[in-house]
Amino acid sequence: MTQTFFVTGTDTGVGKTAVTCALVRSLTAAGYRARAIKPIETGCAVSADGELLPADALAHRAASGLAELPLERFIRYRLREPLAPAVAAERAGVDLDISTCLELIRTAQTETDILLVEGAGGLLVPFTGTARNGYQTVADVIETLGVPVLVVARARLGTLNHVLLTWEELRRRNLVCAGVILNDVDAEAGLEREDNARVLRTFGVPVLAELPYTAHLESHLADVVRCITGSPRRERS
Ligand SMILES: Nc1ncnc2c1ncn2[C@@H]1O[C@H](COP(=O)(O)OP(=O)(O)OP(=O)(O)O)[C@@H](O)[C@H]1O
Ligand SMILES: [Mg+2]
Repeated sequence: MTQTFFVTGTDTGVGKTAVTCALVRSLTAAGYRARAIKPIETGCAVSADGELLPADALAHRAASGLAELPLERFIRYRLREPLAPAVAAERAGVDLDISTCLELIRTAQTETDILLVEGAGGLLVPFTGTARNGYQTVADVIETLGVPVLVVARARLGTLNHVLLTWEELRRRNLVCAGVILNDVDAEAGLEREDNARVLRTFGVPVLAELPYTAHLESHLADVVRCITGSPRRERS
């Protein structure tokens, strides 16, 4: 049966895509069919011929080793302005249909062992809907999907507050937190990083990994892979 995890963050730019792609590569190396998708991406660059280029979804497709599949199997909506999805869509006059995002996810679930769905920004980002009719947040979408959540957090000063706010909201909604990954997104080491994991664990937060600033995250993800698969490595059939 396919295992699906929703990858959210404590903020934008905390390393959701970098960690997700490294995780897909690690899971593939461990013998699983793993795929990552991103139903809605904002902040897309515009190519010379006017096409919107979704960097995250392109990275997901590459990490999944599925270059032969059309990009539409990894993303449903591309938006230009680097804003929350629902806001970027309102400004672009685009109607985001959550059911087509769910359809993208459901189809991907039938084609892989482990599916990672990257959200946008953090848990309470307006994902679909409009100001007039009400927004659905990323957390609302996760509730609809009913899948466990992986939280990526920037390992900096402020991390304790950001992770605990996210953790509290997940608990309030009875969402399952599969784990929190603390990720160094910049090279400058700070004193606060030494204690983040220890302190978070006293609140019951399941910190799965503390990732260093590196271009090779795969070699630091063994505990996360174990948590996700819950089983020893196996031969790929
Ligand atoms: N552990 C790391 N070591 C080095 N660079 C990293 C690390 N994690 C992330 N980065 C870099 O930090 C930047 C932001 O990461 P990333 O794009 O994965 O964030 P994100 O949370 O997916 O952002 P968004 O909310 O826009 O989707 C990228 O340039 C990425 O390569
Ligand atoms: Mg991303």
